[in-house]
Amino acid sequence: MTQLEEFTGRFYYLLHPRPTIVLITLCPDGRVNAMPASWNTPVSEEPPTVAVAVDKESYTHKCLQHHPEATINIPPANLVDAVYALGTVSGEEVDKVSKYGLKLQPSDTVKPPTWADAIGVIEAKVMKAVDIGEVTLYIFQVLKAKARKGVHTRYGWDFRKTNILLHNAGRAFYKVGNLILAKKK
Ligand SMILES: Cc1cc2nc3c(=O)[nH]c(=O)nc-3n(C[C@H](O)[C@H](O)[C@H](O)COP(=O)(O)O)c2cc1C
Repeated sequence: MTQLEEFTGRFYYLLHPRPTIVLITLCPDGRVNAMPASWNTPVSEEPPTVAVAVDKESYTHKCLQHHPEATINIPPANLVDAVYALGTVSGEEVDKVSKYGLKLQPSDTVKPPTWADAIGVIEAKVMKAVDIGEVTLYIFQVLKAKARKGVHTRYGWDFRKTNILLHNAGRAFYKVGNLILAKKK
């Protein structure tokens, strides 16, 4: 007999918590904008691509139409307040970079800058924009991937040294917990 019951919350919470990135873009008003996004995923290794679902009402959406490049910044878990705050206001009304004192540094291959406090960044350009109702699913081609010295291995983050933000809902985030290894086959 099944133990499953209907989930009355929003369906997507069954797919949370999700790694949160901050998308940095260049906007029509000449400003740099920053928006957290947890609906993101790698798509393919060849070509190297990452998809991010961007609400059509967000300023970031306008910014990506204005300039089809972005940096996909991975913030460390201790920046939770800043990351949440960046998702509560629109860059259309507020210059988030100066309001939150974001430190930016030039990127190597794209015009949008990199968040200097991020532990990782993927520099990317829009390859495809898929229209899906209220969002555009931007498929980005990865141009370059960088990670902070000392906090990663070739398999990703070294969680003894750093942590990332997994967004659950609203103000609630998790950090990555214990390592579990599957039995060798
Ligand atoms: C942790 C977190 C994750 C979010 N994930 C997404 C997302 O994946 N896609 C999206 O369109 N908005 C997402 N949002 C909402 C946007 O960040 C929010 O609407 C933001 O204010 C848009 O900024 P902008 O108008 O300057 O682009 C998220 C917000 C938070 C706090």
